[in-house]
Amino acid sequence: MPVALPPRFFVAGTDTGVGKTLVCAVLMSGLSAVYWKPVQSGEPGDTEWVRQATGLPESHFVRETYRLRHALSPHAAAALEGVEIDLGAFRPPEAARFIAEGAGGLMVPLNDRHLMIDLMAQLGLPVLLVARSGLGTINHTLLSLDALRHRRVEVLGVVVNGPRNPANEEAIARFGKVRVLAAVEPLEHCDPAGLRTAFDRYFGGRR
Ligand SMILES: Nc1ncnc2c1ncn2[C@@H]1O[C@H](COP(=O)(O)OP(=O)(O)O)[C@@H](O)[C@H]1O
Ligand SMILES: [Mg+2]
Repeated sequence: MPVALPPRFFVAGTDTGVGKTLVCAVLMSGLSAVYWKPVQSGEPGDTEWVRQATGLPESHFVRETYRLRHALSPHAAAALEGVEIDLGAFRPPEAARFIAEGAGGLMVPLNDRHLMIDLMAQLGLPVLLVARSGLGTINHTLLSLDALRHRRVEVLGVVVNGPRNPANEEAIARFGKVRVLAAVEPLEHCDPAGLRTAFDRYFGGRR
């Protein structure tokens, strides 16, 4: 049975490059939501990618709270650029519906004391965890779920991304005691039509 997605949630990943931004773009193409990237390291950045891929107007995007030029861990990029990331500076969008995207995996440092997962806990948003579909994902996903639960962060479910691997999906669901909400396969076209088709296929009925 499909689970309705809440109006505001956080898209986290088991790692960098697992498909958080791609999954956000798919979700944005079907949900009437605002996209927020609290910490961006590297240019041009995920907000720009989601904007271009979805073709959605400016009103669906808010400015990153921290926008760092270097494509490094946020704490390292911030240090290079003379910036201190302050957990007190994050103000979620006022929009009724928004999707926030993390940077890297959960245990990525933001400064000398805090990790990305501390920001998630502070925001109090439920988390949708994006994981790669293939080899190595069971370990990364189960560790990430443990860390989220340890901090009492609500987990909406896991979205696996990449070539289908039902055995991994089953192991994640069983050992992680979690729902695999969707298994997103490689998209041929990351354009508005392709993303909308993917939304209907993977998340249709979840609005
Ligand atoms: N299902 C998919 N279909 C096509 N391209 C994908 C898919 N998932 C990820 N990619 C591509 O792989 C790269 C990494 O994905 P991305 O969403 O940027 O990861 P993350 O946000 O977790 O760092 C990007 O170039 C992205 O467009
Ligand atoms: Mg991203």
